[in-house]
Amino acid sequence: MKQTINGFEMAYIDKGTGIPLLFVHGFPLNKSMWSPQIEHLSQSFRVIAPDLRGHGDSESLPGPYPMELLADDLNALLNYLEIKEPVILCGLSMGGYILFAFYRKYHRRLAGLIFTSTRAGADSPEAQQTREQTAARVLKEGITPVVDGMFPKLLAPNNYHVMPELAEEVKTILNSTSVEGVAGALQGMKVRLDSTPILPEINLPTLIIHGKQDQIIPVSEAEKMASVIPSAGLKILSDSGHLPNLEQPDDFNLTLRGFLGRL
Ligand code: MLT
Repeated sequence: MKQTINGFEMAYIDKGTGIPLLFVHGFPLNKSMWSPQIEHLSQSFRVIAPDLRGHGDSESLPGPYPMELLADDLNALLNYLEIKEPVILCGLSMGGYILFAFYRKYHRRLAGLIFTSTRAGADSPEAQQTREQTAARVLKEGITPVVDGMFPKLLAPNNYHVMPELAEEVKTILNSTSVEGVAGALQGMKVRLDSTPILPEINLPTLIIHGKQDQIIPVSEAEKMASVIPSAGLKILSDSGHLPNLEQPDDFNLTLRGFLGRL
């Protein structure tokens, strides 16, 4: 489905009925990364999964894409879909950064939070510089340097051998992201706020899921978040890297079902 949302053509999936569950993809991915969750959970929930601006089949606009703007896009999608009841948000990596921005701005819309493969902190000055340089390079040369840099780090090392089809699928998703999307998201992540100070005040049911072999965001980040957010649950999936929802989809879905069942 496609609709003009917050001034651009947004592609999204809206499947199933029941409590709304909104999935927010990571960088530079798109909604198809949630395929195993969409199929499974739409049997019991209303599953919504957009392509963020500049990603997947959504329109590409020049960046930067601050996390607050991407949260505004999600809020506008919920308004368009006339969803009035509280929503559960699940975000992976950059999707998690967007969850924090959404929490700050639209707390009242939320029934629960699921943070996957993410961190609460902001970029260090060095990381900010690298983001800026990478964004400039992408605008000049295209997305190949980012794809080549990220692809070998997305899965747990062994999964490239035991799941070659998944690896290919992930590469296809990465390659489908636009130049504006990659640069805009890098510039937006660069200026994201430090969410560490708000962790103790998060008063919503919260689940944190992380791959033990994540090579992009270490599992210690998830452990830190879980130790500070009151009543957060933590699930570590041992055979996963940065994409546990794809590397261990059954375990991931079961964990989500357990959490959702307790809400
Ligand atoms: C992601 O997977 O969304 C990004 O790698 C997160 C980041 O670059 O900080």
